[in-house]
Amino acid sequence: MADYWMEWASLLLRWLHVITAIAWIGSSFYFVWLDLSLRKAEHLPKGVHGESWSVHGGGFYHVQKYLVAPEAMPKELHWFKYESYFTWISGFSLLIVTYYWGAQVFLIDLSVADLSVQQAVGLSLGSLAVGWIIYDGLCKTPAGKDLRVLGLLVYVVVLLAAYGYSEIFSSRAALLHVGAMVATWMTGNVFFIIIPNQKKVVASLKQGKTPDPALGLQAKQRSTHNNYLTLPVLFMMLSNHYPMTFVGEDLWILVALVVLIGAIIRDYFNAGHAGANGFRVRWQWPVASVLILTLAFWAKPPSVALEASDMINDNEVQAIVTTHCTGCHAAQPTMPGFSSPPKGVILETLADVEKYKQQIYAQSIVSRAMPPGNMTQMSQEEREILGGWLEKH
Ligand code: HEC
Repeated sequence: MADYWMEWASLLLRWLHVITAIAWIGSSFYFVWLDLSLRKAEHLPKGVHGESWSVHGGGFYHVQKYLVAPEAMPKELHWFKYESYFTWISGFSLLIVTYYWGAQVFLIDLSVADLSVQQAVGLSLGSLAVGWIIYDGLCKTPAGKDLRVLGLLVYVVVLLAAYGYSEIFSSRAALLHVGAMVATWMTGNVFFIIIPNQKKVVASLKQGKTPDPALGLQAKQRSTHNNYLTLPVLFMMLSNHYPMTFVGEDLWILVALVVLIGAIIRDYFNAGHAGANGFRVRWQWPVASVLILTLAFWAKPPSVALEASDMINDNEVQAIVTTHCTGCHAAQPTMPGFSSPPKGVILETLADVEKYKQQIYAQSIVSRAMPPGNMTQMSQEEREILGGWLEKH
């Protein structure tokens, strides 16, 4: 019964996570656009760096940006932070419900590392904390002053993390953890740096002092990272529903490409918003397209040598499915932790297998996503037999 309620927790948390992420990323895309759309004009009030006009929902909006701050603080000032905090909180809760509660299925792969549930959860929590300490430390070193050098260093840390995670967790959990680690940096940037710095600026203005410009520079450094990391993180979060992305060897190569592709696409929009033209906005799509194709070809699993179909008898296939699938994929699963068949996929009879043949081919033959973490130790030969049977039907 507990599993039934966990499913509800998972659904509600995912709902919340998607909503808050839309709110966070939506407002952050909006502000990046707003910032880059500012144009200088005559007769702007003192301290205004630029203005932007837009039309939406039947009205006209006229926004002006004060580079440091207006002379007098407005009575009401809107902050944007809870979107980010709740994205992290809901995401972290989802991590607990899916990967900690279901650690044996989703987090641990005994053929990768022989971990107990406590060890795996400890590694997950510890790595998220250590990841932030390393990232934050790097940003504060002198190298952090140069955004390009820092960007390169941060990129290397992400790749090392991808390599490290794939040495300890199931491949699905490994890719998700890279996303979770980077997403933790993004919310950490908002919580520990951007908002506190803005608060200090507001406080010094209220006291009639000039705010320290270093505060603004530091916030800018972090928000630039958040801007470029958004698209790669979304890819890593969604890809855990697509086994072809994570079942291959060398997860770090996939991550290397995904981060590049996401950042390049983001750069196209940044440059476009700022009014750039010519080569500055022409190179991104061709390069990103080539990289996406490279990724798709790279991730393509080697073709499997299927068992010749006339050698296979139905009983053999039924036995494979009963041993390796039905424990979870049954109307009443017997596998602890499952109260209903995952994704509604029931695999009890050969007719069921035929019905889901395309999905099974993708999940168990082309990729080794099912059984998760190869829990039931399905052999390569069994995959070839099942594949040969599916081919025939
Ligand atoms: C330990 C439990 C378990 C076992 C054993 C298992 N599965 Fe699954 N299966 C799952 C879970 C959990 C999901 C849902 C995955 C997700 O949420 O992305 C799933 C999803 C699937 C899906 C649907 C994928 C989709 O997104 O359309 C198919 C098809 C599938 N499994 C086939 C198999 C086959 C074939 C076997 C046996 C070779 C098998 N499974 C063994 C737990 C299991």
